[in-house]
Amino acid sequence: MNNLTIKYNELTAEEFISLWESVWDGAPSLEQTELAMQNTIFRVSVYDGDKAIAMARMIGDMGLCYYIKDVVVRPEYQGKGIGRMLVNELLKFVNDNGIKGTQVFVELAAVPDKIPFYEKIGFTTNEAQRLKIMYEVK
Ligand SMILES: CC(C)(COP(=O)(O)OP(=O)(O)OC[C@H]1O[C@@H](n2cnc3c(N)ncnc32)[C@H](O)[C@@H]1OP(=O)(O)O)[C@@H](O)C(=O)NCCC(=O)NCCS
Repeated sequence: MNNLTIKYNELTAEEFISLWESVWDGAPSLEQTELAMQNTIFRVSVYDGDKAIAMARMIGDMGLCYYIKDVVVRPEYQGKGIGRMLVNELLKFVNDNGIKGTQVFVELAAVPDKIPFYEKIGFTTNEAQRLKIMYEVK
């Protein structure tokens, strides 16, 4: 833990895919991920030496809506406060970049067993349901 470093907007597509594969199946392609990294408004990543061990990113319009995506901590580093630190870094980004004195939506989708993690950071659930379509780009 002592050697961990944090970086801003340096997470690469390769690191993203490696972190994804540490917790989920079906990682996206390098091409799709590179485009996504370019268009992400804020990326946070944590390193143990040279190895990326955690990430989180924010997408959004900066004015009204921010959306948290892909909060991942490698399994062997979980339970040490890194996930909370990442989400707090994303919230700091909102505070640093939003228009002072306004309220903005900071949203995310979480599977049920991850909801308590976000609740501990201050998020609340509401009655809205997540709708999605996996749209095929032709
Ligand atoms: C969810 C995740 C990011 C949490 O990261 P983490 O570094 O293990 O979490 P932290 O150590 O910062 O935990 C912060 C607090 O949340 C709690 N917490 C973490 N995961 C939890 C869970 N699944 N259920 C209940 N509480 C949880 C911790 O116990 C801790 O509580 P405390 O402050 O009272 O001690 C991590 O488990 C992960 O990468 N999971 C796989 C990917 C994933 O599902 N990401 C979320 C996408 S919605």
